[in-house]
Parts: sequence; structure tokens; C-alpha cells
Amino acid sequence: MVRKKIGLIGGGNIGATLAHLILQRDLGDVVLVDIAEGVTQGKALDLCQASAIDDRAGSIIGTQDYGALKGADAVVVTAGVPRKPGMSRDDLLQINSDIIRTIGQQIKQHCPGAFVVVVTNPLDVMVWLMQQSSGLPTHRVLGMAGILDSGRFRYFLATALGVAVQDVKTFVLGGHGDTMVALPRYTTVAGIPLQEWIDQGKLSSEQLNDIIKRTQNGGAEIVNLMKTGSAYYAPASAALQMVESYLFDQKRILPCAAWLSGEYSINNMYAGVPVMIGAGGAEKVIELDLNADEKQQFTSSVQTVQKLIDDLKTLGF
Ligand code: APR
Repeated sequence: MVRKKIGLIGGGNIGATLAHLILQRDLGDVVLVDIAEGVTQGKALDLCQASAIDDRAGSIIGTQDYGALKGADAVVVTAGVPRKPGMSRDDLLQINSDIIRTIGQQIKQHCPGAFVVVVTNPLDVMVWLMQQSSGLPTHRVLGMAGILDSGRFRYFLATALGVAVQDVKTFVLGGHGDTMVALPRYTTVAGIPLQEWIDQGKLSSEQLNDIIKRTQNGGAEIVNLMKTGSAYYAPASAALQMVESYLFDQKRILPCAAWLSGEYSINNMYAGVPVMIGAGGAEKVIELDLNADEKQQFTSSVQTVQKLIDDLKTLGF
């Protein structure tokens, strides 16, 4: 089998963590592209030496040259500026838009056949801009958000219930921001609906509300603790789950920012929904039957994203 080639644009915290995960799991060869001279080459060399110690076969190069992405099967984009304390994801809009537009054009030129996962914030707008500027088909350009938000929700629920996190399944939909929509009605613990755990007094409604708020604020909580950067281990794991599902045609159903054309009554826009990822990219959007309250939350979350896209268009994008 031909080895897979995985491009990582942005060799900062998330990019380098992804590179390490990919090499450790022997998923393919890595090209790490960053504008920062030297750092990327240094990280690549360090990772090559880690692979030698771990007896792994994959190779990695660090470069400033986008041409090295030629023929990449998948690309994860983390290039940009992360949040500092007090900044919202939306504060990054102008700075990161310039970066994403340039990168979209480079992807179009060097690896138009790739499956592209955008991680850069503000996520839902950046994935839209990536698709516009690269011109790649919408089913091959997705945004990483829902897996991360759902992972946070799962972790907090598992801790509160005192159960294994593997047994908690859930979906967090909508935009990757304070308006994200956690769905207790679509949450199960060992296959048992969360409501039954609440009915049995294992979790109070108040605790659940606090967990939902903490999930919505999950990124900022980490930014405030770290002071000089934002979360990167969990974002890297989440992006890799999407890439693996594509490269190995796993057909996993994962909450991601996906292009909607009529699903959830939304047209021509990205939003966080469950989507099946396989060799065809985003193969199918799964439509959940939302109740009136969930629908209202989802619509208002999507409207927040639409407003940012409108702002971006005003800025000439
Ligand atoms: N091309 C390539 N790399 C770039 C470019 C560019 N045009 N502009 C910036 N970069 C690189 C920076 O040099 C840096 O190495 O992007 C990298 C970003 O890394 P970090 O600052 O460590 O940020 P990280 O924590 O990895 O987060 C990246 O993901 O979750 C989001 O909000 C987060 O938008 C941020 C992104």
C-alpha cells in the first residue's frame, strides 16, 4: 500500500502535536509547513529522532515551501494566531482571514485533491473562507469543532457521573463558540439515555446546566489558565479523528463543521452537524430531529456565524 502523505499547515502547538500523533501511529508521512523559519525544520528533526527511538517508519519534513504539499492526501490547517486571555475566537477574524485566504490559494495550486480539515479560529468562518479561496468541493473541506466540544462535554459528564468517558456518547452542534448547542437528548451513558440518569438522581438538572456552560466556555477556561496560548492536545486529537476516518474510509459519524445545502433548513453555509466521513469526504450529513428549543438554539448559533461571514464580506473577502 502506498504511504499516505499528510500536510500540516501551521507547525505551532496543534500542528506539532498532530505531527507527533501521526508519526507515533504510523499513519503516513508528514509535511509540516510554517512561515516561521528554522522552528519547523527543528521540530521536524526532533520528531524524526523521536520516530527513530519509537521504531516508527514515517518521515517528516519541515519547510516554508507550500510546493512540498504536492500530492498530499489530507491537509490540516492550524496556521494562524491563537487566542490570548480576554480575546474571543471572533477577535481573531481579520488576522486569520488573511492567512487562511493565502493558504487556500496554495492548497488549490499544490494539492487540490486533498481532504482539508480547518482548525484555525474563528472556526466556522475560517472553514467557509478556506472553501471559497481554495475552490475545493465542499465535501472535501470540513472544520474541526464539534468533536472537541463533544469531547469536553463527555469528559465533564463522565467525571460528574463517575463513569468511564468511553461510555458517554453525545453530540455538540452549531457554531464553535459560546452559542454551541449541547444536546442532552442525544446523549447516552452506556447506551442509557442521559435523562434516565437524571431521573434516577445521579445528576441534577442544575449540574447538567453547569456542565453545558463549562463546555461552552471550555476553550476560554484553558486560555485563562495557560495565559500564552490555547488548547492543543484535544484539538489535535479531534482533527486527527477526522483525517483517519477519511484516509481509512471508516465512515464514522462525527460532529464537524460541514457544508449544508438544505439540511437543517440551512443553505450554502457551514455549520456544526453530525457528518459521516469516509473515502468520499463528507459523505452524508445526519439530520437529527431537533425539538423547538434545540432548533431555536441551533438557528441562533448559525446566525452568529452568518453575521461573521457578512462582516468578512464587508472587509472585502
Ligand atoms: N502559513 C503557515 N503558518 C503560519 C502562517 C502562514 N501564513 N501564519 C502563521 N503561521 C503559523 C505560526 O508561525 C505558528 O507556528 O501558525 C502557527 C500557529 O501555531 P500556534 O501559535 O502555536 O497556535 P495553535 O495553538 O497551534 O493554534 C492554531 O488553531 O485552535 C486554533 O485558535 C487557534 O487559530 C488558532 C489555531
